[in-house]
Amino acid sequence: MDLTTTYMGLRLKHPVVASASPLSDTLQGMKRLEDGGVAAIVMFSLFEEQIRHENEAFSHLMESGTASFAESLSYFPESDAYDVGPERYLELVRRAKEDLEIPVIASLNCVTSEGWIQYAQQLQEAGASGLELNIYGVHADLSVSGAEIEQQYVDILKAVKSAVRIPVALKLSAFFSSMGHFAKRLDAAGADALVMFNRFFQPDIDIQELEVQPTLPLSSAGEIRAPLLWIALLRGHVEASLGATRGVEGPAEVIKYLLAGADAVMSTSALLRNGPAYAATLVSGLEEWMQARGFEEVGQMRGVMSHSNVGNPRAFERANYLRVLESFKGQYDDG
Ligand SMILES: Cc1cc2nc3c(=O)[nH]c(=O)nc-3n(C[C@H](O)[C@H](O)[C@H](O)COP(=O)(O)O)c2cc1C
Repeated sequence: MDLTTTYMGLRLKHPVVASASPLSDTLQGMKRLEDGGVAAIVMFSLFEEQIRHENEAFSHLMESGTASFAESLSYFPESDAYDVGPERYLELVRRAKEDLEIPVIASLNCVTSEGWIQYAQQLQEAGASGLELNIYGVHADLSVSGAEIEQQYVDILKAVKSAVRIPVALKLSAFFSSMGHFAKRLDAAGADALVMFNRFFQPDIDIQELEVQPTLPLSSAGEIRAPLLWIALLRGHVEASLGATRGVEGPAEVIKYLLAGADAVMSTSALLRNGPAYAATLVSGLEEWMQARGFEEVGQMRGVMSHSNVGNPRAFERANYLRVLESFKGQYDDG
């Protein structure tokens, strides 16, 4: 059976990839992921805070008025979530390149265009197989329009693309008003992959202590719906690879994402919950399903249920929503 897939130009032995998480914050952790059976690793993000903490020159850049994303900085978690500065991060990439056989994709979250370019180049030099841009921003400045935010994404992508030779993926938030149009713009700007969707830090409120609670709960399978919909809608309409992230609990979600049209399916919560070896369970579950259905290659099943390929494309659209609403009618009447 042929499980190979091509994701952002990288040949992978199968589509199951570890998405950015603390599981990759040491070389030992990355080896565990490789031994556990993932086909590639997206490393945890190198965050601006760490760069700022370690690099005086860079903080000067931040203060010199070039910061296009400065406003988002105040929304980063203050803690040293990943206690890894740029030097240690680069060293990790170098050692992973030497010691691991699977591709290692570095993840970057910067603030200034100089930062994106400088660190993208350094990560390339360190041996990263690719780059994932994690443009994390809670755009809480009420004067900034959606069009401006989209333009910032495009500018960052173009700047990084022109500075490196390795493939560049963009990890997207689900919060764009015209996702399809925006995805096409990113595709035209040269994105090698679109990763859907990031799971933003959304704090809760403790109603006893009246405190904002910064928690990041692990995901559940119900969360695949938004990325599944957009992967199904975009399949066949963009050159960029489609990376699925969010809500993989077991093999069923991997299968659904591939049927929708994903080139790679990523997991963090399931690997944190069950350990890195769970990657092999995801892969064997996929294999068993393919065997039962008579698929010999992942390529044969990919996108079979995409919007373009499905017998009834309206199943993904508004009309079907109305049908679902119809089915609720009368169910909750008192008498
Ligand atoms: C503890 C934790 C740390 C994470 N760190 C990062 C990160 O550094 N960079 C990033 O882009 N995403 C990060 N993520 C998001 C994951 O990569 C992933 O996109 C998200 O959890 C959705 O996938 P899942 O449902 O399989 O968990 C993190 C998620 C968790 C739970």
